[in-house]
Amino acid sequence: MIAHQPIPVFHTLTDVFGSEEAALPHAKRWNDLAAQFEVRFGRKPTYIARAPGRVNLIGEHIDYALFGVLPAAVERDILIACGSRPTQSLSHHAEIPDTPGSVIAENLHPKYTRQVFAPAVKEPQEVSEQDAHAESWKLDINTKELRWESYVKAGYYGVLNHHFSGVENSPAHVDLLVTGSVPAGSGLSSSAAMVVASTLAFLAVNGKVGDSLEDNGGHKSLDKGGLVELAMKNEKRVGVNSGGMDQAASVMSDPSSALYIRFYPSLTASAVRLPTRAVFVIANSLVVADKALSAKRGYNLRVVETLVGARILAQAVGLPIAPVDRITYREVVGRFAGEQPGADMGADALEAAITRLEPRLDVLKPSVTDGVQLGVTMEEMVQMSGLAPDAFHEAYLSWVDIEATRFQLYKRAKHVLTEARRVLQFRRACVEVEAAASSDGSEAALIDSLGRLMNESQVSCAELFECSCPELDDLTRLARQAGAYGSRLTGAGWGGCTVSLVAEGKVTEFIQKVKETYPPYKNLEGTALSEAIFATKPGRGACGQYIYFALDLFCL
Ligand code: GLA
Repeated sequence: MIAHQPIPVFHTLTDVFGSEEAALPHAKRWNDLAAQFEVRFGRKPTYIARAPGRVNLIGEHIDYALFGVLPAAVERDILIACGSRPTQSLSHHAEIPDTPGSVIAENLHPKYTRQVFAPAVKEPQEVSEQDAHAESWKLDINTKELRWESYVKAGYYGVLNHHFSGVENSPAHVDLLVTGSVPAGSGLSSSAAMVVASTLAFLAVNGKVGDSLEDNGGHKSLDKGGLVELAMKNEKRVGVNSGGMDQAASVMSDPSSALYIRFYPSLTASAVRLPTRAVFVIANSLVVADKALSAKRGYNLRVVETLVGARILAQAVGLPIAPVDRITYREVVGRFAGEQPGADMGADALEAAITRLEPRLDVLKPSVTDGVQLGVTMEEMVQMSGLAPDAFHEAYLSWVDIEATRFQLYKRAKHVLTEARRVLQFRRACVEVEAAASSDGSEAALIDSLGRLMNESQVSCAELFECSCPELDDLTRLARQAGAYGSRLTGAGWGGCTVSLVAEGKVTEFIQKVKETYPPYKNLEGTALSEAIFATKPGRGACGQYIYFALDLFCL
């Protein structure tokens, strides 16, 4: 089980990338980072933590409904060089707070300026009864504006509260230097890569990561599943109530395949081999989408619409739910089909249950005014939920900030259920592609069906989930015209990247056609073009090799 594997710690880059040949193209970047750390902090770093971004092949906005998704890690990543700062050197820096666990965070990108911060132990009156054991530390994180260090702090926050009980057991002072090749706001999950790398860096500096899961200085080292869960909680501190796809893909990806990640009944990941005769091409729309800044009207609003819809549907099909229970669509499908709590009914039964439940979604439809479905108002939504306004507020609004006058419960639900079914079908087709690899004819037909599912996913994201944008619609259409079997947005949407399935051998021609037809690419050449549109093929090593690790010797 991938989730129960230890977090790998390597000692040479060759071990990280599997061979000297594979490691060579990365050596300069790693060594430059280590050298810069030494220039800035006067000693070598102890670790480099790495976490890759991801491309989601199919299954958008369904992870927080607890349905399975199918992402793969990409080669682009975040690296954090770090080391503990000796206490005696503190006196040289008047700016550094003289409290435990202070951090100097620098970034190789000149746009991101040096930051110095320190956590504080909560005063007894600040600790509520429920979190008395969980949260001893506080650390200010600015969620109102986009700040690079917020993601570093988010990673630190969970490590502090998970591993340190207070002043008697306090964290080391840390220096760190970050570099990243995942473009921010591109839908390739730069934020999760940053939070995973930061979580890992603070764990490593404080001796909480080991080769084995044995007791490590009084604490068991986290396994991969534990790191995913910690990174998921950490990222919520930046203000986005994201599901676990990005963190799971960043932590658990397999070097040669995509991952089928399930969140229900518990976090599990299994490798899915991708077709060898087709390639996934990522293309950036060049519209920057920051899901944290737009969360109120975008991401977080979708999370609430999805959760409230699930409660209403559950009631309509006769499932009893307590007022405080925030049931998800995956749980509704399971209970509707008689699945035992904690059990997994399996892919075929799940697909059949989704299909049986789909006609019942009509209960979520808003009334039609002058031929237009405007969505339901807050008042109508509360009434449909069967909860008293206070209980509704407590369950669905008290923990999240959203802004809307109408809520699209039906459209969102229709997307979630059909997208969940597409993931199951996509995975099944990949398994069949692998089995049919020897016969050209059937592999071609199966690749066609993967493309069709991707196209259907794009239509659903655009029309039902409304998370596309005109540029993403254009780019996916142009990709199909340029010969892609299928093309869709990847990640949260509202900008960022698309992913297209293209025949092997046609990639150069495909990229050229898209360059000529997508207006924002017309003047791009060389590196600028290859940064905007590029092939990624896990089977051939174009994706990340090992997903993240701590390196403690800088040699090949
Ligand atoms: C973002 C979130 C993920 C997922 C996708 C949409 O990347 O972080 O959890 O919800 O959007 O599929």
